[in-house]
Amino acid sequence: MSRRVFGHAGEKVKKTKAKPAVAPVRIPLTKPYTSEEEERAVIDVLRSGWLMQGEKVAEFERLIADYVGVKHAVAVNSGTSALTLAVRAVGLREGDGVIVPSHSFVATANCAVHWGLKPAFVDIGRLTYNMNPFLVRRALDSNTRAIMVVHQFGFAADIYPIGSIAEKHKLALIEDAACSLGTTYRNRKTGSFGNAACLSFHPRKIITTGEGGMVVTDDDEIANEIRSLRNHGIAPSGRTRKSRCEAAGFNYRMTDIQAAIGITQFKKLEEIIRLRTRLADRYTEEVASCFVLDLPFWPDDSVPNYQSFVVQFADDTINREVFLSHMIRHGIECKPGIQPIHLEPAYEKDHSEADLPETIRAAERSFFLPLYPSMTDEEQEYVIDNLHKALSSKDIRD
Ligand SMILES: Cc1ncc(COP(=O)(O)O)c(C=O)c1O
Repeated sequence: MSRRVFGHAGEKVKKTKAKPAVAPVRIPLTKPYTSEEEERAVIDVLRSGWLMQGEKVAEFERLIADYVGVKHAVAVNSGTSALTLAVRAVGLREGDGVIVPSHSFVATANCAVHWGLKPAFVDIGRLTYNMNPFLVRRALDSNTRAIMVVHQFGFAADIYPIGSIAEKHKLALIEDAACSLGTTYRNRKTGSFGNAACLSFHPRKIITTGEGGMVVTDDDEIANEIRSLRNHGIAPSGRTRKSRCEAAGFNYRMTDIQAAIGITQFKKLEEIIRLRTRLADRYTEEVASCFVLDLPFWPDDSVPNYQSFVVQFADDTINREVFLSHMIRHGIECKPGIQPIHLEPAYEKDHSEADLPETIRAAERSFFLPLYPSMTDEEQEYVIDNLHKALSSKDIRD
């Protein structure tokens, strides 16, 4: 007997017994590195009777600030919230221009649009997946007030020239370091370069709190404004409420439950990066021998955290969809790269004419291979074996 259910658009659709189009996932794209330690940390908080923002959040903030090498860390409930508050706290106001890459998750631009700022999309470098500093310079106009630089996939952006441009033109510099906790550039952690930087603890990021984010900064005023804005515009937060609502803020607070997970995850951060790097090195060796694939590259003296393992087809005669469907049919969760923000329906009306050939190239040719700290050598061999099989199949060439 068939059951009638509602589809996405609210229309009635028939549920059939048709086989699923894809095989069950055998190797996921990513998997959080959690264990009984996180479970115990959550239980301890539950038993403490204090579940909202409290001592655990303060402890997590101190750990991250010290690690990144900045004075303040302010925890919030997502990377998107971190970006939204950072944009405001660095002093940007309605109508101000912000230079952003289109090659990023939409949150990078959404956070500016929410405050009435005007994003100006800039292209990335070929195979760096990050903004090209020459194009940043070229995109400046009399309205530009800030640069939002993303360290995409955990690869350091070319932050030194971009930072110089910001300094010379008196622009705010915000780092979207959602993916790059632990990435270093000249022995300095990403997140320590801008007026403010934003981290994400989404499960696809290097460490997770389920959902969560943080703003890190050396600037007392920025930190205080974010502490206030995350708490309805009332600062400070805590058991006693003495302050008034100074600005129409938000409830973007992180809970002690999330922070307890974050503290436990933080203790594993270096181990996570080490495990990811070992797997990434193995993939690199394999991909380097495939002449149809291009590896990413990053500035000299920088060390990635390998939040993702991204690869690009060197040749546009290869059909990426055929490749991906081979992997998916074999239970390997391989995903295409980032879709450009400027071509999303919410942006295309004003930005579809932007000339961003490398962003388009990356969107059309790149893909991610599965990578997570607990991936076994056998699992990785299975992925590599299928990578070679897919590449040698005759229907992969258009
Ligand atoms: C570059 C970048 N910025 C911002 C975000 C938003 O972070 P969150 O999902 O924690 O809101 C993400 C998350 O996917 C991201 O990849």
